[in-house]
Amino acid sequence: MISLNGKVAVVTGAARGLGQGIAIKLASLGAHVVVSDMNQEGAEMTVSQILEKGYSAEIKICNVADKDEARLLIEDTAKKHGKLDILVNNAGINRDSLLHKMNHEQWDAVIGVNLTGVFNTMQPASAIMREQENGRIVNISSASWLGNVGQANYAAAKAGVVGITKTAARELGRKNVTCNAICPGFIDTDMTRGVPDKVWDLMISKIPMGRAGKPEDVANCIAFLVSDQASYINGEVINVGGGMVL
Ligand SMILES: NC(=O)c1ccc[n+]([C@@H]2O[C@H](COP(=O)([O-])OP(=O)(O)OC[C@H]3O[C@@H](n4cnc5c(N)ncnc54)[C@H](O)[C@@H]3O)[C@@H](O)[C@H]2O)c1
Repeated sequence: MISLNGKVAVVTGAARGLGQGIAIKLASLGAHVVVSDMNQEGAEMTVSQILEKGYSAEIKICNVADKDEARLLIEDTAKKHGKLDILVNNAGINRDSLLHKMNHEQWDAVIGVNLTGVFNTMQPASAIMREQENGRIVNISSASWLGNVGQANYAAAKAGVVGITKTAARELGRKNVTCNAICPGFIDTDMTRGVPDKVWDLMISKIPMGRAGKPEDVANCIAFLVSDQASYINGEVINVGGGMVL
């Protein structure tokens, strides 16, 4: 049985979708969860759901693409609670377009949130976790890091997330800090509900399990990775996709 009693966790992009599922799961296992997002209303709903169940959470509004806001999110949390045990970098966006039509706004927006946003929280978090000689970082990459039509910006950012994850694993391992990445396959959230029906059906046809994943499917894997049971798993890139990528 996994217990996160007494742990302090930050989850970015936790107003809805995967982030919401992750925040609720970690809180249900005993962690105090800092629910962070740009979307205040959604973040408040996540916090209410956690508190209603008798678990512990607070809200911190933060645009992870802004380095000062991201630094404050991490440093204020550590200052207030005296430590930061867990960081889950989940916030992400997509701005899909074929490469020959993709403009720089689409490129910059996705790189800014999905890659620079991860650096923006990991940089201050790694300083804190090194110092306390304890920590768990999980970054949400994507099965698309291997390349996906219409997602040059997204794939590049998510491949970058794999790179920063493996680098952090090498740099921080001796300090008892692990860093791993999850590659969700096709999970039923607002992000994927945005695709045309034809694309939805095509994606499902590629999944051996014949269904889209649920946020809980990803959250369960993260709960294990941030627990004491996973203390020797470091620098891994784990697919949670029902066998979509084999
Ligand atoms: N849904 C999938 O199938 C799937 C597959 C692979 C990877 N992912 C990744 O999982 C993560 C979550 O995806 P989702 O499907 O839940 O998406 P979603 O769009 O439903 O939720 C994303 C959340 O991130 C927040 N966010 C966006 N930009 C932000 C910023 N700059 N700062 C802070 N918060 C911000 C949004 O407000 C939203 O609450 C993303 O990184 C996404 O790339 C999702």
